[in-house]
Amino acid sequence: MENAKILKKIIEARRSIFPKDYSGKEIPENIIDEILKSAAFAPNHKRTKPWRLKTFKGEEKQKLGLELQSIYKNSTAEVQFLQKKYDDIGFKISKANVVVSIVVHFSRLLPEWEEIAAVSMAVQNMYLTCTANNIGCYWSSAKIAEQLKDSLTIEDNQKCLGLFYMGMID
Ligand SMILES: Cc1cc2nc3c(=O)[nH]c(=O)nc-3n(C[C@H](O)[C@H](O)[C@H](O)COP(=O)(O)O)c2cc1C
Repeated sequence: MENAKILKKIIEARRSIFPKDYSGKEIPENIIDEILKSAAFAPNHKRTKPWRLKTFKGEEKQKLGLELQSIYKNSTAEVQFLQKKYDDIGFKISKANVVVSIVVHFSRLLPEWEEIAAVSMAVQNMYLTCTANNIGCYWSSAKIAEQLKDSLTIEDNQKCLGLFYMGMID
């Protein structure tokens, strides 16, 4: 198939696929590498490469889930707290095989929106590489991720824009 047709097929096939639909099988290491490397091909003004992507697997991923749950608990008034939501945070993290934190680094050389735009294009590259490899993924912009501080080091000129969940699909 010629390149244009292959690209069209992948772009049109891309969907957000949520952890409940992940099979639980391991994503091969070389494919995780490909997905992360594809992010770095995104266009970025003044070559600031503003994406900071950290990969969580296994025990680190479990700790991330616990931290997200505790952020939710501590930032929610008791009357508004929903056990289902708390459990769902843990469920999504455990069903995903790999979670990548999406952090933008503001270089101060550009308006912030340009750096966020470049990070978003990097995430689209990850989405498309997942699609091409038959891997389910989605970008979760849940507010609680902005407060992560044990699992992630967020500097003053950085902001966490969410988490990218990935898992094998049948
Ligand atoms: C910046 C951004 C943030 C998103 N945050 C969430 C989210 O917090 N929760 C969620 O369920 N989906 C989230 N999504 C995924 C969208 O819901 C999804 O892209 C939309 O439903 C369209 O579906 P599609 O990706 O299959 O085309 C986000 C998408 C983007 C681009």
